[in-house]
Amino acid sequence: MDDLRIKYIDAIAAAADEAALEELRLQAVGKKGEVSLKMRELGKMTPEERQVAGPALNALKNEINSALAAKKVALADAALDARLATEWLDVTLPARNRRVGTIHPISQVTEEVTAIFADMGFAVAEGPQIETDWYNFDALNIPGHHPARAEMDTFYTHRAEGDERPPHVLRTHTSPVQIRSMEKTGAPIRIICPGRVYRADYDQTHTPMFHQVEGLAIGKDISMANLKWVLEEFFSAFFGTEVKTRFRASHFPFTEPSAEVDIQCSWEGGTVKVGEGDDWLEVLGSGMVHPKVLEAGGIDPNEYQGFAFGIGIDRLAMLKYGIPDLRAFFDSDLRWLRHYGFASLDQPTLHGGLTR
Ligand code: DAH
Repeated sequence: MDDLRIKYIDAIAAAADEAALEELRLQAVGKKGEVSLKMRELGKMTPEERQVAGPALNALKNEINSALAAKKVALADAALDARLATEWLDVTLPARNRRVGTIHPISQVTEEVTAIFADMGFAVAEGPQIETDWYNFDALNIPGHHPARAEMDTFYTHRAEGDERPPHVLRTHTSPVQIRSMEKTGAPIRIICPGRVYRADYDQTHTPMFHQVEGLAIGKDISMANLKWVLEEFFSAFFGTEVKTRFRASHFPFTEPSAEVDIQCSWEGGTVKVGEGDDWLEVLGSGMVHPKVLEAGGIDPNEYQGFAFGIGIDRLAMLKYGIPDLRAFFDSDLRWLRHYGFASLDQPTLHGGLTR
């Protein structure tokens, strides 16, 4: 029995892996194992012999079983230690750089414009991009025969023969939102409407889809002087420097009188700089809302009057951020977007300063 003990306890201690351990278990205490066979011999012994051998064999069996269990745990621990030694990770390493998207200059400038006008008490209004020709033209005092209809290179929606619904267009300007806002809230009114507009035109300074922001202020005593102050205030805040404006008499069907507005700029070195020099750049159309337009919006022109203006957002973005070609705005070229785009947390605020 001592021989068996030494043999198995030593072998278990030396076992290299779980398979070897299982082999030893079968050899020692399995059904036909050496210890088990010895236990079968108990039956042939005298009662006296059995009284000594029985407990001794049981003790040996228990000793071998616990040696097996302990070695199994030791082997598992060693395996885990070996894995931990090779599979380690330096959690203090800096993370890999991931490219994040950027805010498109049009979105950025729209936010900037909205923030400045919001500060002057203008709310934001919206209207549909697919308009009836009544909102886009007639209500704005542009009747069917008016040359402005032809000049605008309008996209008309297809209509099946016999379709009696009013013709729909892709809005050619944001001005129809003036009418929708008047209908919705009545006077007084103070809104801007930034949004997409469409015209069939394509070259370095024209794309079939572009952006405008409409402005409308109606009250009992709103005058051209208010218009001038609001626009000068806007341009100075937007460009971050005092900007002189020049009002030129003009004509729009929906305003009377009408003015086109230029801002002061210089062309030195082939690049345009706003707010200095003695050149002028046309940036918007404006005027006092035509009485017929007020009427179309359900507002009594004998009681109320006001001003309106329309600015090209894309043009503003090109001027402020030195972007030379309008078409690139809509090419979705990642290199362009990374260059001209804005960080997503770089939200424009008045107190934080609107210029980069
Ligand atoms: N709707 C005009 C255009 O798209 C711009 C415009 C001019 C808007 C004068 C106005 C305005 O509100 O008063 O060319």
